[in-house]
Amino acid sequence: MPLKKITISSDHAGFSLKQTLVESAIELGFSVEDLGVSSDEIAVDYPDYGVKAVKSVLAGDVSLAVILCGTGIGMSIMANRFPEIRAAICHSEFEAEVARKHNNANILCLGGRVIGTEIAKRCLKAFLTTDFEGGRHQRRLDKINQLSPTHTHKT
Ligand code: RB5
Repeated sequence: MPLKKITISSDHAGFSLKQTLVESAIELGFSVEDLGVSSDEIAVDYPDYGVKAVKSVLAGDVSLAVILCGTGIGMSIMANRFPEIRAAICHSEFEAEVARKHNNANILCLGGRVIGTEIAKRCLKAFLTTDFEGGRHQRRLDKINQLSPTHTHKT
């Protein structure tokens, strides 16, 4: 059976954790395409690298991807502009598990400056090995999909 493939990318602030998670994903039995950045020596703009992983999901090359920046916030803001993307910033194994089970998240966002390595590895494992539960959770995702991006919500 072929290995399940994921993609991963980061900016300079997520680089070190990305390198660790590439190894972890391989140990978990995944094939990993690393879309950069290739060092943390030069500051780069996180959308430039995050969008590479987003595009790999949109193109159907992979069903799950991981993107990292300093906090995970910039990457998640960028990724969630695309209607087909459900990007979840996680700081715990529980969040990563529920992001898959309930939200059918297809991109895991992590912050290299805010999360410890061992917790990040647990998040990765939970994210890559948990399935979406569907049912009522699909109904809720359908409601999100029906929201018009041009609609102005007033409080
Ligand atoms: C880079 O300094 C930092 O702003 C970036 O990695 C990220 O945290 C943005 O959300």
